[in-house]
Amino acid sequence: MNLSLSLCFKAFTFLSLCTIAIGCLDEELALRHQWSQAELKQLQSLHLASLPTVTDPGNAYLDSDTAAEFGRKLFFSPLLSQDGNTSCAHCHQPKHYFTSGKPVDGKRNTPTVVGAAAFSWQFWDGRADSLWAQALFPLEDPGEHALTRLEAVDIALNHFLADFIGVFGETPALTWFLQQQTSSFSHNENWEGLSEEQRAQVNQLFASIGKALAAYQARLMPDVSRFDRYVEAVVRKDFESASQYLDPAEEAGLRIFISERGGCIRCHNGPMFSNGDFTATAVPKSIEDEGRLAAIPQVISSEFNCLSQYADRQGRNCDELTYLKTQGEELRHAFKVPSLRNITLTAPYMHNGSFTHLSEVLDYYNRSPRNGLGHTELEPLYLFPFQLEQLEQFLSSLESGIAPSSVWGLTHGKEKIE
Ligand code: HEC
Ligand code: HEC
Repeated sequence: MNLSLSLCFKAFTFLSLCTIAIGCLDEELALRHQWSQAELKQLQSLHLASLPTVTDPGNAYLDSDTAAEFGRKLFFSPLLSQDGNTSCAHCHQPKHYFTSGKPVDGKRNTPTVVGAAAFSWQFWDGRADSLWAQALFPLEDPGEHALTRLEAVDIALNHFLADFIGVFGETPALTWFLQQQTSSFSHNENWEGLSEEQRAQVNQLFASIGKALAAYQARLMPDVSRFDRYVEAVVRKDFESASQYLDPAEEAGLRIFISERGGCIRCHNGPMFSNGDFTATAVPKSIEDEGRLAAIPQVISSEFNCLSQYADRQGRNCDELTYLKTQGEELRHAFKVPSLRNITLTAPYMHNGSFTHLSEVLDYYNRSPRNGLGHTELEPLYLFPFQLEQLEQFLSSLESGIAPSSVWGLTHGKEKIE
């Protein structure tokens, strides 16, 4: 009797200790994943689902699958270049998350095209105000595809005529061009010989190439990351799953990222981890590059900008261009705030590729030197080395690869493109 009583008592204490322990564990988890209402809102604003559907009223073909398929062919075609070797994919390589993996190509580091469609301004300095207009630059750039405008149109129509017609139809510009092709004018000097009206026809066809390329690239978007899953779990108070998505170091890094201490969120905010704006951060040697300031007159005078006759749906809202800030010292040496999604896949870093590793970028932020610039938006952070490490670990939770696309069965970040 005595014995059974004491056994019973022991069992009871054991059980209650267990319940208390489990309770403690729950509480510990809840505590670890505790965020204020304001912070939770911020986390949700960083979630990929906060990204609005990508649109471009200037490109009526952006959502067309046939345009995307045509664009894909153009993107991977080396035919579309002077040396017969340089496709867009030559620098924007699927295996490098659509970057070149080199510090610079020409003057600047090659950014990824994945997620580019989510941005109003293209290039590090934003000298193109749409994805379709951007695509026309490399074609005519002597250091890239090195074609003349006439050659680009000529090649595209020679090799991809059926695709072109499949997307844009037999437009008057096309009919006219095909007639001219027989008398061949695929050289630079012939541009001079063309009338204003004829140039407009060529420009129309050239712009169409850009629109197809944009339709393809708009389908290359980052996939949902561990960070996004974490936010979902925290919001539904599923702290056990939350722990599986981010480990304590990554979570600590996230806290620094959004806190005033780290201040990253000042510029790297929203679902792409970028405010899409231009800022001077005095990256080494940025003094050699005027950045945004020099790009503004270029985008204003561009014949393919938002206000251009080659943009579809004219008369639409071009406020971003019309009310563009054209002056100000803060624009000098300012560069676009890049997205941080999949940042682990796109080394080296910054507009001029000055850092090879993420740890160097973070060390740079910690010191925030002026590097000879009169103006920088950064202040030294004075974080401890272990905090920089946590920030870096957090950034790795943004790695997700490319979202599967219904158009050509992109597999999860495995770059099965062709
Ligand atoms: C020789 C290498 C090279 C080739 C070829 C090339 N690019 Fe790029 N691309 C770059 C570099 C470098 C930049 C950044 C230049 C800058 O900011 O001034 C860039 C920028 C871009 C951007 C802007 C992304 C952003 O975040 O701002 C897009 C989009 C893009 N390229 C698409 C294309 C397309 C489409 C083609 C083919 C028609 C192409 N590129 C051909 C090197 C290349
Ligand atoms: C004042 C705005 C601003 C703040 C604050 C800021 N960044 Fe940046 N970030 C930028 C700009 C602009 C660039 C590109 C600079 C360049 O290329 O010259 C950049 C580049 C980067 C890059 C390299 C991206 C690439 O593709 O090359 C990383 C990584 C990065 N930032 C992380 C952070 C982290 C982490 C923090 C917080 C410690 C932070 N940033 C704070 C504006 C900012």
